[in-house]
Amino acid sequence: MATKNNTLKLKFDSARNLAPAPESKNAATIASRYDLFVNGKFEKPLSRKYFGSINPATEEKLSEIADANAADVDKAVKAARVAYDRTWKKMPAKERGKYIFRIARMIQEKARELSVIETLDGGKPIRESRDFDVPTAANHFFYYAGWADKLPFAFPGKDPEPLGVAGQIIPWNFPLMMAAWKIAPSLATGNTVVLKPAENTSLTALKLAEIIQEADLPPGVVNIITGTGATGAALVNHADINKIAFTGSTDVGKIIQRAIAGTNKKATLELGGKAANIIFDDAPLDQAVEGVINGIFFNQGHVCCAGSRLYVQESVYKQVLRKLKDRLETLIVGDPMDKNTDIGAINSKEQLNTINKYLKIGQQEGAEMYQSSVDIPGKGFFCRPTIFTNVAQSSRISQEEIFGPVLTIQTFRTDDEVIEKANNTPYGLSAGVWTDKGSKIFNLTTKLRAGVVWANTYNQFDPTSPFGGYKESGYGREGGLHGLAPYLNLDKDCSFNRW
Ligand code: NAI
Ligand code: MG
Repeated sequence: MATKNNTLKLKFDSARNLAPAPESKNAATIASRYDLFVNGKFEKPLSRKYFGSINPATEEKLSEIADANAADVDKAVKAARVAYDRTWKKMPAKERGKYIFRIARMIQEKARELSVIETLDGGKPIRESRDFDVPTAANHFFYYAGWADKLPFAFPGKDPEPLGVAGQIIPWNFPLMMAAWKIAPSLATGNTVVLKPAENTSLTALKLAEIIQEADLPPGVVNIITGTGATGAALVNHADINKIAFTGSTDVGKIIQRAIAGTNKKATLELGGKAANIIFDDAPLDQAVEGVINGIFFNQGHVCCAGSRLYVQESVYKQVLRKLKDRLETLIVGDPMDKNTDIGAINSKEQLNTINKYLKIGQQEGAEMYQSSVDIPGKGFFCRPTIFTNVAQSSRISQEEIFGPVLTIQTFRTDDEVIEKANNTPYGLSAGVWTDKGSKIFNLTTKLRAGVVWANTYNQFDPTSPFGGYKESGYGREGGLHGLAPYLNLDKDCSFNRW
C-alpha cells in the first residue's frame, strides 16, 4: 500500500505544486472589536464581555466579538417588537421589497470583501466563499425581495399575515448564506428579526449588519447579536419571540423543541444529515466520481447535506474505487486563501477532534481507512481527505454525522437493497442518485426518505428550491415558495384588501 501511495504521490505532485495564487487579505476591513447590532446601532453589550474569533487556518485572532447575555437578548427582542408594531408590519409590502433588493445589491457590491472575511473567519476555500456562499446569499435576498408584494398569489385563498418577531440561530458552516436564508424570507413576509450567528464565525453576519445599517433599513427590523449557546438559549426562551428558526446540530435541535413545547412559538429546525450518494453501474462514472468528491470533500465535509455515505453497485465497485482514490490524490489541502485550494481548514479545534475521534472509531470497527498522501500545514486545523471501505451498515461511521472530509463506501446489488440501506439512518436530509435511466431516478426519488434528492449532480442550490429534512434532520422547509409559509399565519380567510 505504501509503495502504491508513493507512486500516486509522484504522479500527482505536479498537480499539487501549482504556483500559489493567494487572494489578498487587504480586500477586507476587519475591526479589532465588534459590538452588538441592536435597534440600528452598534452598541456595547450589557454583559461587558467579549471573546475572540480566530482564523482556523493560522490560529491567529482576527477580532473580538461581544458575548450577549440575557439582558442583551431582551434589549434586542424589544427593539424587534417595537419595529414590528410601529414600522414593519404597517409598511406597504412593495416598500419592504425595495429594502430587501437594496440589501441584495449591496451584498453583490461587497462580494469580494465578504468572501475574504468568510474564508479568514471560517477556513473554507476562497473559491467556495467567492463562487458559492456570497452569490447564493445575494440570490436569496433577490429572490425573496420579489415575493414581498406577491404573498397573496403564493397562497391563494388565504390572507397571509406575519408572525411577529423571529429568533434565528445559525451554524458555522455557511455563516453569511445561512444568515441570508433566515433573514430574507422573514423580511419579505413582514416579520422582524433577532439573529444569532455561531460563535466561531460571526464576522460576515456583523458585516451584513453594517450593510443593513447602510441600506437604511428601519432601526430594529434586523438585530444581530453575537454570543455562544447560552445566548442562543436565551433567545429561544424569550417570552416575546413568535418564531424560532434554527440550523445546527440535532442535539441542540432537540433542546429547542423541548424548550418551546407548550408555547405558541412556531419553529423550523434544519439539523444534521448522513446523505447517501448512490452510483449505479450504468452511470457516467467520471461524472459520478466528481460529484462524490464535490459532495463530501469540498468545504471540508462541513455540509449538513454532504454525501458522506457512498453506495456503489457491485459490478463497478473496483472501477469507482480506483477513480476515487486517484482523484483524492489530486486534491489540494491547505491555505484557504489560495485560489487553488480544494480543501481548507477544519472550522475549529473541537471539530477537528471530533473528526479524528471518528477516524479512530472507524478503524476500531474494522473498516479499512485510506487517506490521501497530501502534506497538510503544521499550523491550523487540517484533515486529509479520507475514505473508509469494508464498512458495516451498523457501524458508527456509517450511522453518525462526522461533519468532516470522511467518506464511507459500501456496495449493493439491487435497487431495493440500496433503498433499504440508504434509508437506514436516523437522518433524512438529502441523497444523490447517479444513473443513465430516468425510471431508476423516479423509483429512487419516491422511495428515498430525504428532503432533497439530486440526480446526476450533487450539492446544487437555488433560492427557488425548498430545502429541509425528514426524521432527525428536522422539519420545515427553507427556500422557494415553501420557505415563506413558516413565517406566516395562514389561518385567515382570503381578503386581498391589505395588500
Ligand atoms: P451547535 O448546534 O451547538 O451550534 C449551532 C448554533 O446553535 C450556534 O449558533 C450555537 O451557538 C447555537 N447553540 C448552541 N447551543 C444552543 C442552545 N442550547 N440553544 C440555542 N442555541 C444554541 O453545533 P456545534 O456544536 O457547533 O457542532 C456540533 C455538530 O453539529 C457538528 O459536528 C455537526 O455534526 C453538527 N452541525 C450541523 C450543522 C448543520 O448545518 N445541520 C451545522 C453545524 C453543526
Ligand atoms: Mg473564526
